[in-house]
Amino acid sequence: MKPVLTKAVFPVAGMGTRFLPATKASPKEMLPVVDKPLIQYAVEEAYEAGIREMIFVTGRSKRAIEDHFDTAYELETELEAAGKHALLEVVRSVQPSDMQCVYVRQPRALGLGHAVLCAEHLVGDAPFAVLLADDLMQGQAGGPGVLKQMAEVFARTRSSVLAVQEVPLDHVHRYGIVAGHDMGQGLVDVQHMVEKPKAEVAPSRLAVAGRYILTPAVFERIRAGGRGVQGEIQLTDGIAGLLATEKVLAFSYAGKRYDCGSKQGFLQATVELALQHPEVGAEFRDYLQQLNVV
Ligand code: G1P
Repeated sequence: MKPVLTKAVFPVAGMGTRFLPATKASPKEMLPVVDKPLIQYAVEEAYEAGIREMIFVTGRSKRAIEDHFDTAYELETELEAAGKHALLEVVRSVQPSDMQCVYVRQPRALGLGHAVLCAEHLVGDAPFAVLLADDLMQGQAGGPGVLKQMAEVFARTRSSVLAVQEVPLDHVHRYGIVAGHDMGQGLVDVQHMVEKPKAEVAPSRLAVAGRYILTPAVFERIRAGGRGVQGEIQLTDGIAGLLATEKVLAFSYAGKRYDCGSKQGFLQATVELALQHPEVGAEFRDYLQQLNVV
């Protein structure tokens, strides 16, 4: 049987100004957390959810992302000649043979909704996932990743699914915020959705994390939405438009989100993932203990 969800869109055209000067000449999505670039965590999460077609919406100075998911011929030849098979495996595992990568450019920074629209002709008339690589998501230890959990909800309900988490009231202005009827099992039947509201008018504290499964009807809605907050074409407005005709579910995933679009979140991800890392974890834990910072 053909899987229900086959394509994922990765909007990676953003400038990454919060990480300057690191992101002056290289994409923010290539910043490594321990030993893997952010974009690879997101791609692996999509792959785990059964998705094989990865669509990157890129921009200028993002070539490193394309190179990362391509064959590194010289490197592979040298590693092979040197008999470094384990490293060769690490390099080759970045692009499994059944995974396809497609690239399209977002010519101007007109917002997340616009980035998703740039992928419309590649997505076609099928449901698709959107993953924001800035948000590094981890399922619970030994459990499924966040997108896989969402794909299971989608397979059951065939409704759009948004990953959500509760945030403090003074953070709601950073997120898309949803509100609706609690359906149990971590699901909310969304009735309202608003991008980056002020705390005083936020309909709830349920914030959208950077994972979405959407029906193709959203494209028309994004187009109809026009420009929203910050003068940008917002994905949130497109999804809010969808509410008039389709059910949209908010899903409180099991796991943790690191906001790697901020220095604080990026540092937290680095420390926590380093502690879990099979190669460096134990030694790093000892190091942190002897730092005695708390
Ligand atoms: C984007 C979305 C927002 C969402 C957030 C999650 O905002 O527009 O709705 O809550 O990602 O990280 P950005 O972080 O690009 O400002």
